[in-house]
Parts: sequence; C-alpha cells; structure tokens
Amino acid sequence: MATHLNATPPPDAAPPSRGPATPGRTVNFKVRRCDGPGKPGRWETFAVTVERGSNVISCLQQIAANPVTVEGTRTTPVVWDSGCLEEVCGACTMVINGKVRQSCSCLIDNYAPGEGDTITLEPMQKFPVVRDLWVDRSRMFSALRRLKTWVPIDGTYSQGAGPKETPDDQEIRYKLSECMTCGCCVDACPQFLLEPDPARWETSFVGAHAVSLARLFNEHPTGRTLAPHRLEVLSGHGGINDCGNAQNCVKVCPKHIPLTESIGQIGRAVTVHQIKKIFFARPDPHAAAKGPG
Ligand code: SF4
Ligand code: SF4
Ligand code: FES
Repeated sequence: MATHLNATPPPDAAPPSRGPATPGRTVNFKVRRCDGPGKPGRWETFAVTVERGSNVISCLQQIAANPVTVEGTRTTPVVWDSGCLEEVCGACTMVINGKVRQSCSCLIDNYAPGEGDTITLEPMQKFPVVRDLWVDRSRMFSALRRLKTWVPIDGTYSQGAGPKETPDDQEIRYKLSECMTCGCCVDACPQFLLEPDPARWETSFVGAHAVSLARLFNEHPTGRTLAPHRLEVLSGHGGINDCGNAQNCVKVCPKHIPLTESIGQIGRAVTVHQIKKIFFARPDPHAAAKGPG
C-alpha cells in the first residue's frame, strides 16, 4: 500500500455551508465578460433561479437561454467550455469566487445557499481568453508534446505480454494518470506566467502537470525508454529549476495528485541525469582529427 499518496490534503472544494439551501431562490452570477482575444473585459451580472442540485454549468445554460442582465439589458450569451460534465475532461475549469476549479462539479447549494447570494465567475488567468470564460489551454498540451509524455509503440501489431509490475507501482501510476490537464495547478502557480506567444512555449515553464506526467511515463516499463529525453528537457529552460516550490499547485489539484512529490522525484532524477552526462559522456571520435577551433 503506497500510503504517501494520501499525504496531500484534499483541496478546499467549497466554502463552509451557511445552512440548508432553499430551492427556487435567486442567485446572482457576476461574470467577467470578454468579446475575444485582446478585447477589453467587463463585468455583467445575471439573476438565476436555482433549484436543488444546480451547478455552475446548469446556471450558465439558463443565462445562455435568456441573456438579460440584472439591469434589464439584453446582451450576448456567456461563452464557456465543457465536455464530460463529471470532472473528467477538465475543459470547464474557471475561477469561481476567486478559486480555480471545475464548474461542472461546483454545486450552487454549497457556494450560495441564501436568497440573493452572489457567485463570481472569471476565466483562468494564465491562458489567453478565447471568449468570456473559455480559455485556450494549448500551452499545456504543447508541454506534454515537448516532454513526450506517452508510451512509445512500434506499430499496432502484438508485441506480446508487457513486463510484470507490482500492485504498489500500479497504484502510484494510477494516481498520476488521473491528471485531466485541467489547468488548476498552473493557474495557481506563481512561476507559470501568461505567455500568449507559442514561439516562446519551448523555453517557458512546463508546469506541474507536465512534470508529474513525465514522472508517470518515466516509471512505466516501456515509457521509460524516453526518460533521457524527458530529463534532458527538464534540465533546460522552463524545466524543473523554474519551479519555486511554492506548492500552490498541490493545494488546488482536484484529483489530489501528489504534485510536490513528483516535483521532488523529477528534481532528483534530473540531478542524476546531469551527473551521468558528465561521467559517461562518450568522447567524440573525430575530435582529434578536427583540430582546435
Ligand atoms: S495535475 Fe491536477 S490540477 Fe494539474 S492539470 Fe492535472 S488534474 Fe489539473
Ligand atoms: S511547487 Fe512549483 S509548480 Fe507547484 S505552484 Fe510552486 S512553483 Fe508552481
Ligand atoms: S465538463 Fe469535463 S470536467 Fe467539467
């Protein structure tokens, strides 16, 4: 049993309840609006009738069906992203009452139990806004390509049974594999800054999710064949040394992934990788023939 996986305290999912919520009450949604990339932002507030079990997405659907502000002004429907509606895809991540989390699993009864309560919705801050609450998370996937966080396979034909593994190893990797690239960890990270220019992603901080997924595939019996590549990338600009160890990431991860444990493990692996490079570097057989310069 890998007990260290339970060392991370669960994120503070919701504020303390102020008593039972009343069905049919009105809750105000103060939404940060933006009409497109580079356009100025503005706030708009919408009143929504909330039933028991409502979540942020169901309330946004009500607003989309009748986009009229509390002042009575008709406006455009609020735009957001979502997919699974069960906290698996990560697409619906936004900042709710100042905290980054998934909106599909955010129950209004916990956040706004009283008549007239207000919930604020903002897009994540570390990604370019596409429109309103919808952001472009491409940089997160770019970091995964940079680190080759996958198991390399040679074709799709049968290569026989894979290597045997212990249940403890499986349990560790299962937890790491729950990452849904939602963006919470990087949005909360002081070292991960907004970088809209894709040309600079190759040298920008990869983020805690990418470090943890590098660990996942470095520990996989077949995936570890790419470990030297991953450790080389993590040794360079935007790699593990960019992490300031503030540990914000682990506090907001909705899947309770032990991110700081992964950061420590990868930090040690990068050190060993660099030492190996010094002591086991192969001499260039043509160096003498080339002569100086
Ligand atoms: S590590 Fe956690 S917070 Fe970060 S992207 Fe994965 S699931 Fe989201
Ligand atoms: S521990 Fe590293 S990755 Fe996590 S929030 Fe701090 S600086 Fe960011
Ligand atoms: S819609 Fe997939 S996590 Fe919320």
